[in-house]
Amino acid sequence: MEEIFDIANAFEICHADALTGAVIFHVTDQQSVLLKKAGDMAVSGSDEQAEITIYAGNEKTQDRWRKTGGRIASWVKSHCPKSASVDCGPANCRELLVGLFLGAYEFSKYKEAPKETPRPLCVVMDKAEFDEVKIICDAQNMAREWAHEPASVINPVTLADRAESFAQVYGLNCTVLDDEQLQKMGAGAIVAVGQGSKTPSRMIILEYPGTKPGKPVVLVGKAITFDSGGLSIKTTTGMPDMKYDKCGAMAVLGILRAAAQLKLETPVTGVICAAENMPSDKAYRPDDILRSLSGKTIEIKSTDAEGRLVLADGLTYAQQNLDPRCIIDYATLTGACVVAFGHTRAGCMCTDDEMFSGLFAAGEKTQERIWRLPSDEDYLERLKSSEADIKNSGGREGGVCTAGMFLKSFINEGMPWAHMDIAGTAYNNDGSAYFVPGSTGFGVRLTIDWLKNLQ
Ligand code: BES
Ligand code: MN
Ligand code: ZN
Repeated sequence: MEEIFDIANAFEICHADALTGAVIFHVTDQQSVLLKKAGDMAVSGSDEQAEITIYAGNEKTQDRWRKTGGRIASWVKSHCPKSASVDCGPANCRELLVGLFLGAYEFSKYKEAPKETPRPLCVVMDKAEFDEVKIICDAQNMAREWAHEPASVINPVTLADRAESFAQVYGLNCTVLDDEQLQKMGAGAIVAVGQGSKTPSRMIILEYPGTKPGKPVVLVGKAITFDSGGLSIKTTTGMPDMKYDKCGAMAVLGILRAAAQLKLETPVTGVICAAENMPSDKAYRPDDILRSLSGKTIEIKSTDAEGRLVLADGLTYAQQNLDPRCIIDYATLTGACVVAFGHTRAGCMCTDDEMFSGLFAAGEKTQERIWRLPSDEDYLERLKSSEADIKNSGGREGGVCTAGMFLKSFINEGMPWAHMDIAGTAYNNDGSAYFVPGSTGFGVRLTIDWLKNLQ
């Protein structure tokens, strides 16, 4: 079981006090004849001792250092040097290292091992800073690795098993509620979503107690381990990648792991709402009326609007049982969010201005960027049902906002709450400067940065 927590990168990255090795990278922010655009490299020396200067470009943000780290990582992957080290030069070492760690990750466990593998790459920088970045990026890479596992490997039941060993390894409390317990408790929404699958729903509660007692920050994650759409089945092109519909919960696990390893002050509790959305004779149907844990009834218009159903019960559970200081939910919730923001920003609905500005700032700093969604009551109007208290789909128009307002209707007055629709940012099949194509682990660095600055 251990190996599922120890995620190996394409090459190891280590700390060093001095520059040594066959290849030495120097990072520069000085443009020259040889170094015209970001990523350009100037190579000198011999095979025994090559020196490579890489130009970071003139982009104003800190992200240029991460991109430079990402470019060094892909060079190491393709050239397999015998040994190498990096001299950060004028770079922000911390962010360069983030780019190296995230850039070195690949989902490769089901592929034949490469003939040649690169040796460790050493970075000369402050040791304490190195260790902290490693904790955060390893946690983010674990979130990415688990997100990539297909639904034949991770389903609600196997995810609950993983969560139990995860809790042991990182010293967390873990409670798993199975479908029978959920049914008894009255959580009719999460049970209904999973009832078409042979692996029924689970709600998983993981508690990191923090080093300073207080109310926990509660993180609720959507873990639809596969979203076929259910009876409102998706199309041939709409269904691939729906193993990534658990990315919200994978981010929650990554955050908990980093919080525990960094021994953050604030208590953090994760609530994972796991179900597999499948069509079958047991499946829930359009026109069904569910009774959620809150007591509110929900008319089903589309079984493909399932994420908000499992989250409704998760959000209610959190407020009824966990005495949250505030709640953040993470979910690959709507295709409409991808249309609106692409892969660049997550949509964020928030009931508290101060909370939002903290999260927004953390997003700008870490490049896990968010943008606030409106929460006008007009959007809720679209969810009025003639037969139940609310319906689960308001149609295509304003889809990212109606989905957010659906969730908001399960939040008690006065509870600071933020909803992150990460449908566009959780994975990107084009890849980018420091992400190979696939999952990104979006939310881990943003939230850890925000938690570290919480008073
Ligand atoms: N998991 C999907 C949202 C999604 C789509 C994530 C594409 C990532 C990429 C979600 O459960 C869904 O199917 N949403 C529907 C809602 C609709 C039926 C109201 C959608 O966005 O089409
Ligand atoms: Mn769906
Ligand atoms: Zn979904």
